Amino acid sequence: MLKTDISNILNFIRTDELYSLQEKVTTCNDMIYNKSGKGSDYLGWLEVPSKTNTAELTAISECARDLAEKSDIIVVVGIGGSYLGARALIDALSNNFSQLLSKTERKAPLILYAGQNISEDYHAELLKLLNDRDYSVIVISKSGTTTEPAIAFRLLKAHIEKKYGRESTKSRIAAVTDKAKGALKKLADSEGYRTFVIPDDVGGRFSVLTPVGLLPIAAAGFSVEKLINGAEEMEVICKAKKTIDDNPADLYAAARNLLYSNGKAIEILASYSPNFNYITEWWKQLYGESEGKERKGIYPAGVSFTADLHSMGQLIQQGTRSIFETVISVESTKNELKFPKDEQNLDEMNFIAGKSLSEVNHMAELGTILAHVNGGVPNISITIPGIDEHSLGGLIYFFEKACAVSGYMLGVNPFDQPGVEAYKKNMFALLNKPGFEKESEVIRKKMKL
Ligand code: PA5
Repeated sequence: MLKTDISNILNFIRTDELYSLQEKVTTCNDMIYNKSGKGSDYLGWLEVPSKTNTAELTAISECARDLAEKSDIIVVVGIGGSYLGARALIDALSNNFSQLLSKTERKAPLILYAGQNISEDYHAELLKLLNDRDYSVIVISKSGTTTEPAIAFRLLKAHIEKKYGRESTKSRIAAVTDKAKGALKKLADSEGYRTFVIPDDVGGRFSVLTPVGLLPIAAAGFSVEKLINGAEEMEVICKAKKTIDDNPADLYAAARNLLYSNGKAIEILASYSPNFNYITEWWKQLYGESEGKERKGIYPAGVSFTADLHSMGQLIQQGTRSIFETVISVESTKNELKFPKDEQNLDEMNFIAGKSLSEVNHMAELGTILAHVNGGVPNISITIPGIDEHSLGGLIYFFEKACAVSGYMLGVNPFDQPGVEAYKKNMFALLNKPGFEKESEVIRKKMKL
């Protein structure tokens, strides 16, 4: 269902070097499946697809249906791993103009997001919009204590309670959080909201196939059953195999690690449909947060082609030669559209008359790969059958599994993120959060505040 093609990196690496990585890949897979590597308490995502049962999916779908029935808009509150996966899949599966469609045309409420920034304008404008719309809220935080979603949720809670009354509000809010700890869990229990659990052994950026992603995706009208199904198939495909050629995740992990050790420190994920823009954002977090530590890690960047060929194309073609490209290719699109013939042909475009836009886009893709490879940019290609729940479930699991193997190959713990705390400490000190008095004094002196 998903293919990894490395034929366009072969001019840049030695094949024997790639295959000599087999032993390392096998060791990393052993560390994953035997739970003997760093961060092994966070390997729960490995079997999430095969362990998710029908009862869990039914409970998620029922809650999603109930929220959807009473809402024109559902606001999903969360940040990082509690935001990007849901948005990635909802954006990929949605009509590109879903914001302009009616609820009937969309067959689902519109999904909006909050808590992924602290912008005053963003949240003020959101609340203004919600004054005149029926809405519900899904609030997601594993720790239950993250500042950005906590700010957004306090604002939304006050707004929704004022609009519908405290009692009616209870059925309009669902929380996805830890099973026992954290401020969000305490608040949800005390208010009587419906809650869904993020398993202890699944970290934020690996959590999209748990209720973190499944509840918003179901509320947006998409099939979580098909999504889990696709991921489950990929779980089997990506289980350790004898050679990297038989395992698309191992092949991708080995290829990117070899390119990295050959000086390619930047990986650009490219796609040829704007539907993938947030898949790219999700992927950037997955790889950036998993590998970027101990002064190591490939810098994950993203481009949306062909748009970015007219902005980043120059740099990719002729700039610093420290990049390689990974392209997500799609075999079939959701719609069909043929380019029409024009008798006058004043735009001189009749040479593509009768072709589908997919064919034209595909030729742009092949032409770009050729140009970039000739320009010194190795290219890995990942092909999926379509932009549907099944294919995307597979793609998500593939990237997660490859990320774990790749992180272990690099020698880091792919499941922690100690560096994320630094900005929080400074922000709390600057905001005079109780407990940060000492840091506050030091920072204020340093910044001459
Ligand atoms: O991947 C991660 O662990 C992070 O990006 C978290 O998901 C993010 O910081 C949000 O955390 P929480 O779900 O605890 O609010």
